[in-house]
Amino acid sequence: MPKLTIDTIAVEVPEGTNVLEAARSIGITIPHFCWHPALGKAGACRACAVKMLDGPIKGIQMSCMLPAQDGMVVSTTDQEAVDMRRAVIEWLMINHPHDCPVCDEGGECQLQDFTIAGGHGIRRYDGLKRTYNNQYLGEYIEHEMNRCIQCYRCVRFYQEYAGGTDFGAMGRSGMVYFGRQQDGDLESPFSGNLVDICPTGVFTDKTARFRARYWDYDMAPSVCPGCSLGCSTVPMARYRELLKVTARRNDAVNGWFICDRGRFSNAAVNAPDRPRQARVDGEAVSMDAALDSLQERLTNFLELNGAAALAIVGSPRMAQEAAIMAAKLRDLIGAETLCYSGDTPHFAATVEAVALLNRNNTASQKDVRQADVVAILECDLLIEAPMMALAVRQAYRNGAKVFVVHNKCLKETSRQLYDSAAVASLTDVPFAEARNPVVICGMNRQAINSIQAMALSGVKLAFILNGPNAFGTAMLAREQGAVTLPDALARGAIKGVIALEADLSSELPP
Ligand code: FES
Repeated sequence: MPKLTIDTIAVEVPEGTNVLEAARSIGITIPHFCWHPALGKAGACRACAVKMLDGPIKGIQMSCMLPAQDGMVVSTTDQEAVDMRRAVIEWLMINHPHDCPVCDEGGECQLQDFTIAGGHGIRRYDGLKRTYNNQYLGEYIEHEMNRCIQCYRCVRFYQEYAGGTDFGAMGRSGMVYFGRQQDGDLESPFSGNLVDICPTGVFTDKTARFRARYWDYDMAPSVCPGCSLGCSTVPMARYRELLKVTARRNDAVNGWFICDRGRFSNAAVNAPDRPRQARVDGEAVSMDAALDSLQERLTNFLELNGAAALAIVGSPRMAQEAAIMAAKLRDLIGAETLCYSGDTPHFAATVEAVALLNRNNTASQKDVRQADVVAILECDLLIEAPMMALAVRQAYRNGAKVFVVHNKCLKETSRQLYDSAAVASLTDVPFAEARNPVVICGMNRQAINSIQAMALSGVKLAFILNGPNAFGTAMLAREQGAVTLPDALARGAIKGVIALEADLSSELPP
């Protein structure tokens, strides 16, 4: 562990840490554009200059490119380093639009922040600026190439991290262009991350454009409801309308990124026909009136049919708090039936899968990213849980071997992210040679059966479940004796249901 001194503060960091990261670890921010924790260094922007006062390396250095070493004495405030950084910012701003007060990236622009922090406020260059034509990149991402400072973060993410092939860097020297060969939709299912990763606003969220300033948003940490992975997000709303969703860093789960499905699926939340008021027989009423009506009708129903005829029906979409309240409601009313699922085969497989998991054998997305052997069983990750596919790609980039068992589920798009070998069964996967093996399994009875023996073998397991809280509702279902709605209906006694966040099937009696 190298020990060094940064601005007179002694710091010890893990081997491989660069000087910029070492400074961050003690709360010192060195300006940077091209370096990103998830993408590493590129040495492209030259904004992170520091002065090495003593030790194995001396003079002005780019802190992101310099691994921390024993005995280094680093100054981020030395006048020579400050002047260098100020000069770099001034060069970057020569071609950049000077429209910060009205720019739609204002408030979330790293270039704006470091320009102001660096003290560059007066434009000395009065020549023509380099300008570009923008491209149409689809309905989600706006392109504004004149803001580009050539940090290469976008292309490093799109091609290297996310495996995209339709977007890249074109041109040479001072005329590098970041875009597609021609106008068209970005093809990567992770393209929305360009918005988060670009430090200047070349890529912005078109769906929220000019709707709010960064400081106008109501925002809070949240969890994506798009699939069962539960990636960390920050939904951002204004005037009670959900305008955009951004990724929230969570190293154990999604890292720095989210998929486009999670980012751009806010239409249902804002749908004008979404119920926003209590209704009785189709008529809008106050909440008090609705509750009175519910109590009266429920009392009548129970008197007429008895508690055995009533089912409380939830779904794997429910938050855990709501699922627990559904069980409490069942007990309060005395209803005999509680359901969290309308799909019997999936429910049975989910309950079995969840029963196999414990603290030691459960694989997080981070475990998958760090795996050296990954077996994928009965699921197409890009369709069912895109961020898990991105996690497998990171394992693959680090040298992991990827095996796909029962290959028939895999669509062509998944193959762009990682090369994989098709095998007939899990016994063909060389787990014994692996140090960090992971099996990712879809909800299929045959797959669950074949994975039973793995649960205690040291191999970590990740299940792609059927709903954002399928895991929680399956745990509760076992504890609370819940059944599926089709099973409850098959008993023939159900005459009424109370539905809570449930999609009721057409099997319901009229
Ligand atoms: Fe160091 Fe860009 S952050 S050169």
